[in-house]
Amino acid sequence: MTLSFKATRDSRVENSSTLWDCKSTRRIPMMKSTPGSVLFRWVLQKIRFDRDLKWRTGVEIVPIQSTSSNGFRITAPALEEAFQLAQACNLKVKGLLVTNPSNPLGTTLSRKELDLLVNFINKKGIHLISDEIYAGTVFGPAKFVSIMEVLQKKILANTGIRNRVHMVYSLSKDMGLPGFRVGAIYSNDQSVVSAATKMSSFGLVSSQTQCLLSAMLSDKKFTKKYVAENKKRLKSRHAMLVRGLKMAGISCLESNSGLFCWMDARHLLRSQTLEAEMELWKKIRDVVRLNISPGSSCHCVEPGWFRVCFANMSEETLNLAIQRLKTSVDTISFGKDSNGFSHKSTENLITKYSVSKWAFPLSRYNER
Ligand SMILES: Cc1ncc(COP(=O)(O)O)c(C=O)c1O
Repeated sequence: MTLSFKATRDSRVENSSTLWDCKSTRRIPMMKSTPGSVLFRWVLQKIRFDRDLKWRTGVEIVPIQSTSSNGFRITAPALEEAFQLAQACNLKVKGLLVTNPSNPLGTTLSRKELDLLVNFINKKGIHLISDEIYAGTVFGPAKFVSIMEVLQKKILANTGIRNRVHMVYSLSKDMGLPGFRVGAIYSNDQSVVSAATKMSSFGLVSSQTQCLLSAMLSDKKFTKKYVAENKKRLKSRHAMLVRGLKMAGISCLESNSGLFCWMDARHLLRSQTLEAEMELWKKIRDVVRLNISPGSSCHCVEPGWFRVCFANMSEETLNLAIQRLKTSVDTISFGKDSNGFSHKSTENLITKYSVSKWAFPLSRYNER
């Protein structure tokens, strides 16, 4: 594949990657964990990791906290704090899980952060799982660096660390093929590869899918062009959303990848609490009729951040969504009155939207 995994071809290790049906992120914890053990994760993680990782394995997840004060970057004290917290809860720490690029932030980990992670797991003797499913969405300016690239450049003789770093990937995001259910695990640990190979028999990729993908991915010219065009379009969509939100007085965390923006709506909250965040989320859902994800669903402890997806809709729909948000911010005074919202202006907003084409056919249907 002509995606960004240049460093993953390690000639010293054979069979170090294995292909299987998706949810690759679930597999390594399943193979490497026992109930009671713990996996850290970078606090801002994709919404469904709790479901993907905890339910079947019995592992506990201890979030590593990060906040807007440093652009939600990973720091050494935050890593150490999470480790200490896990130990204080009598949990045996098995590994650290990160997504790079991040869902929900839409940012790539810097080389400094990646170094920090490798040094940390080296010191603690634990595993590192890097979920790089958005690697091909990086539209700049900062470049994507795979954990395997960092590992290759480091002098880590006799640490055994190479066997403790695993990378997961799938075609769902970069190639826009979530329905194909094709993912991969890259690991130098033969026990991981062997267990993965055995488990893959429960979720084999169909021959037809393999045949189609093999033709598609071996066409280097096509994949290169596809990924480049995808990045170009994501960049333009991202700029469109950021510009639109800015006009509505809302800023976003500076980002360079992913299919979403991390929107800062702290100023729209009635109070700086997670309850107020849920209140705002419900208003955005019920009144503005947009479904965005509250930060708390990604374990963000700082209220007022929301993940806004921009890639799974037409440009026209995105424009409409921006317009709705802009109008609602202008019209209703989020959080300015004691109830959080002005009823009068909310009614105005509903009346205004009801006459438009995109007014609520479903809610009208429900009222019958
Ligand atoms: C960071 C991350 N990892 C893994 C997945 C799972 O993707 P899939 O199972 O569709 O390949 C997602 C999907 O949202 C994701 O955001």
